[in-house]
Amino acid sequence: MRIVVTGAAGLVGSAAVEHFGVGAGFSRPDRLKPVLTPLTHRDLDITNATAVQKMIADLRPDIIVNCAVIGVDECERDPALARAVNVDGPANLARVAPSIVHFSSNYVFDGKEERFYSIADEARPINEYGRTKLAGERAVAAACSRSFIVRSSWIFGPGKEAFVSTVHEQLQAGKRVRAVSDVWASATYVEDLVLRLVEIVERRDYGLHHVVNAGVCSNESFAREAAHIVGADESLIEAVSTRQAHRAPRPRYTPLLSSQPLRDWRDALTAYISLRHD
Ligand SMILES: NC(=O)c1ccc[n+]([C@@H]2O[C@H](COP(=O)([O-])OP(=O)(O)OC[C@H]3O[C@@H](n4cnc5c(N)ncnc54)[C@H](OP(=O)(O)O)[C@@H]3O)[C@@H](O)[C@H]2O)c1
Repeated sequence: MRIVVTGAAGLVGSAAVEHFGVGAGFSRPDRLKPVLTPLTHRDLDITNATAVQKMIADLRPDIIVNCAVIGVDECERDPALARAVNVDGPANLARVAPSIVHFSSNYVFDGKEERFYSIADEARPINEYGRTKLAGERAVAAACSRSFIVRSSWIFGPGKEAFVSTVHEQLQAGKRVRAVSDVWASATYVEDLVLRLVEIVERRDYGLHHVVNAGVCSNESFAREAAHIVGADESLIEAVSTRQAHRAPRPRYTPLLSSQPLRDWRDALTAYISLRHD
């Protein structure tokens, strides 16, 4: 089993590199040990179709795990780059991959109704990120029949300067934080996401999946839970609206319904924080 991870230096990419090769059945003694090649942005720009073809022809992976992405506010600033990285790049990979994992997002939904969204619900994105993520899903599925499209949401874990990954440290250090209180979604611990992904790949369960921790939160309720876990003063948290905090509009209410829910996000956050402070 040969595995290539693209966008390997990012939050999900790093966890995929750490866990994918040794997860579940891949490490069974009756199988060959997986050979995993992490490719960072510097190693491979997925928007360069010629470079993608050459690299994949050289490495001959059985599966590509694509973790490269342009984030929500940057997509709004640079829609051409967003399309190149979130749509054309994944299509370049899917065209040459025997099998591919591609990540997508809760932001493909408009979040107008206050309910959980299933894989059967119609996607109606309201920002550039959501539009390009949806187009990327479709491009990958059209180019590779053995594709796994995994939508996740508000992923937290080590090594990323994102609100959900770092808010507990800020609060513990006594710093004031601004937390958006009018946007709601699922949250997901990157370890839980990648371990579930290994199971999905093992089962060859191709197609569309929602993989998130159970429950729903806003950034404000997430910050309050983090404060509670680390014993910080909740008055450090200032509730703000998404309009005050963000460039790109966010869909208001987009928790995802999973067929096999992961543990509650509060338990996952406790596990993440305790691991960080061991
Ligand atoms: N984080 C979340 O909350 C979240 C939520 C839902 C879904 N997802 C999905 O999960 C996946 C991984 O996200 P993430 O949070 O791990 O992202 P991330 O931490 O921002 O990492 C993305 C990586 O992609 C690389 N990259 C950017 N342009 C590239 C290109 N042209 N070619 C190759 N690599 C490139 C970046 O490298 P440089 O920094 O060097 O450019 C970075 O290392 C994405 O599909 C995303 O849509 C994430």
